[in-house]
Amino acid sequence: MSILIINGPNLNLLGTREPAIYGYETLSDVETAAKSLAQTHGLSLETFQSNHEGAIIDRIHEAAGFGPQGDGQRHVDWIIINPGALTHTSVGLRDALGGVNIPFVECHISNVHAREEFRHKSYLSDKAVAVIAGLGTFGYEAAVNFVARKIKAGN
Ligand code: DQA
Repeated sequence: MSILIINGPNLNLLGTREPAIYGYETLSDVETAAKSLAQTHGLSLETFQSNHEGAIIDRIHEAAGFGPQGDGQRHVDWIIINPGALTHTSVGLRDALGGVNIPFVECHISNVHAREEFRHKSYLSDKAVAVIAGLGTFGYEAAVNFVARKIKAGN
């Protein structure tokens, strides 16, 4: 079984970007930790980061086997996504996740509800199986453990 972690705009800057909010771990630290954690659960884990909405949508389609190289086969069983700012703006991302029917966890490093009002609205949360916010980069680990438990339980 396979998990895909997607990180949206500006998350490539983790470690140096506003460390008081997002911490000092880099995206590569986060991805490496998530991969080894997935391995301990016997799961494979791929990662993808892009600053471009369309590239993220294409990656989601690809996970479901759609797109130019698509074989119609679903490659990914669960998605963990930190959509960054696209959380608060993107109907396209919402529709992509809805369109592929792959269960997903929405994961935010910061507690978006304790921040500016515009961060309180998410276009994804009501479609997510679970939403994590404010655990710092540990949120990704928590998401992988949650997904592993769901997979083991067969749902
Ligand atoms: C974020 C919160 C978003 O509001 C922000 O635009 C991000 C990161 C988080 O992980 O806390 O880029 O998704």
